[in-house]
Amino acid sequence: MTLPRDDILLQFEQVAFRYADGNTGLDGCSLDILRGSRNALLGANGSGKTTLFQHANGLLRPTSGTVRYAGQPVDYGRNGLRELRSRVGMLFQNPDRQLFSASVAEDVSFGPLNLGLDDDTVRRRVAAALAAVGLAEIGERPVHQLSFGQKKRVCIAGVLAMHPELLVLDEPKAGLDPAMQADLLAILDDLHEQGMSILLSTHDVDFAYRWADHIHIMAAGRCVASFPAGELPQRTAELAAAGLPLPSVIPLHARLAAQGLVPAEPRPRSTDALLAMLPGALQPEEKPCTIA
Ligand SMILES: Nc1ncnc2c1ncn2[C@@H]1O[C@H](COP(=O)(O)OP(=O)(O)OP(=O)(O)O)[C@@H](O)[C@H]1O
Ligand SMILES: [Mg+2]
Repeated sequence: MTLPRDDILLQFEQVAFRYADGNTGLDGCSLDILRGSRNALLGANGSGKTTLFQHANGLLRPTSGTVRYAGQPVDYGRNGLRELRSRVGMLFQNPDRQLFSASVAEDVSFGPLNLGLDDDTVRRRVAAALAAVGLAEIGERPVHQLSFGQKKRVCIAGVLAMHPELLVLDEPKAGLDPAMQADLLAILDDLHEQGMSILLSTHDVDFAYRWADHIHIMAAGRCVASFPAGELPQRTAELAAAGLPLPSVIPLHARLAAQGLVPAEPRPRSTDALLAMLPGALQPEEKPCTIA
């Protein structure tokens, strides 16, 4: 008998899910999310990422197999789901599925109010969450008047205001402008430093390689590979089989290393890290134009 591991926060064991129309959403998917880790879920369109996420907070219930949270099978009763959803914050792929209140502040307050927090705490959390996504000024705006990117930010604020243990984000970068993508990553880094576990889906393999501790690859409703992100250069066949490209830094580094211009090890996980390996590269403290 294998002992339960207390470092696993969320566990999928042979989870299958069939939609009402007979479509297969998940087909025997097994996957572990470790406490305190940053996880990127990669996979082609239709591979099952969104379906998997909707199982993470009990929105969908497996047709067969088990989802465990903190070692316990998910309790699909009213109280069990309420507890699970207070611990697992979920950002939907489409913000219009998530927003339903009249104003921005009302929407962001909904989750914390549902947790039974007092008005003062809710107000503080809402203000902090809106400030974190750069929307402090538009709390009173009607949600339906916002742009796609603004709506997405409101959704992110709504999740942040819940102070979840596990943050599940379905393609959080999609539809955000570069500045907001950078802000979002800074927020995620901050939350991770505070001990939050993060699971996100993305089609951006460069970002996944640079950011994640663990990478999980979905194909046809299954998790076909899970590994520490640093192992990605050895998992190229699995990436290709799932229809995913290599992060651009991998072939670039291989070419420069083959010409003896940079060492073969350590393997850089971003173009910035690769540039820093070039002879004569400026060290961070030597970079010009640094604003103190
Ligand atoms: N509401 C639904 N009813 C029926 N089938 C569905 C439904 N939602 C998804 N599916 C099917 O389940 C499978 C997995 O879809 P899912 O949305 O989980 O994929 P995904 O990896 O999130 O894709 P994308 O990258 O396009 O967001 C697909 O075959 C899809 O057609
Ligand atoms: Mg999806």
